[in-house]
Amino acid sequence: MTVSGNYAINGSMMDGRQIEKTFGCPIVLVGMMGSGKTRLGRMLARVLDLPFTDTDDLVVAAAGVGIPQIFATKAGEAAFRQYEANAIRQVLLDDPVVRVISTGGGAVMRPENADLIFGHTISIWMQADIEVLLGRVGRHNDRPLLQTADPEKTLRDMAEIRYPVYRRADLVVDTGHGTPEQILAQTLRLLEERSGSCNL
Ligand code: S3P
Repeated sequence: MTVSGNYAINGSMMDGRQIEKTFGCPIVLVGMMGSGKTRLGRMLARVLDLPFTDTDDLVVAAAGVGIPQIFATKAGEAAFRQYEANAIRQVLLDDPVVRVISTGGGAVMRPENADLIFGHTISIWMQADIEVLLGRVGRHNDRPLLQTADPEKTLRDMAEIRYPVYRRADLVVDTGHGTPEQILAQTLRLLEERSGSCNL
């Protein structure tokens, strides 16, 4: 893969050759709803001059309706998870170009997805405290799994089950503090340190 251009990382420059060495496989962002996967994913892709894909967008494109509508069907979450598994196979197996991919919060809970992501990519767990996540997702009603009487408890229960799986990620980025630019710089720094250590 050839990546052109330079980007500044904390004052130092990482050139295209180093980027190529570092990013010989896809970069996949995992983590809870509201952790900033999509936003950081877009920023990361832009700065690295790589394509960006959000698996939730692939699900919506395949289903032809939005995520709340998929959850509202008779097959509900099971249907959504099947679309999601298809989307992950599509980006990691069928069309495995080097790119930045953000995944839905529950994607890694299906073992076949987790094995693909943690075995064939540089994975990054975007981590933030529950209070921060709640503050971010509370403003929207587009997360069917959080349409409960007590979204905070739902998130906490979810975190308990999901964190042991998210811990399989190669890198952990704290997305609860700092500006998006600082979080991006932190991510780039961690990636630079992992230079050449793709799981392929
Ligand atoms: C989900 C997270 C959502 C979306 C769906 C289910 C989850 O994506 O995939 O609502 O199970 O955590 P985000 O993590 O991008 O919000």
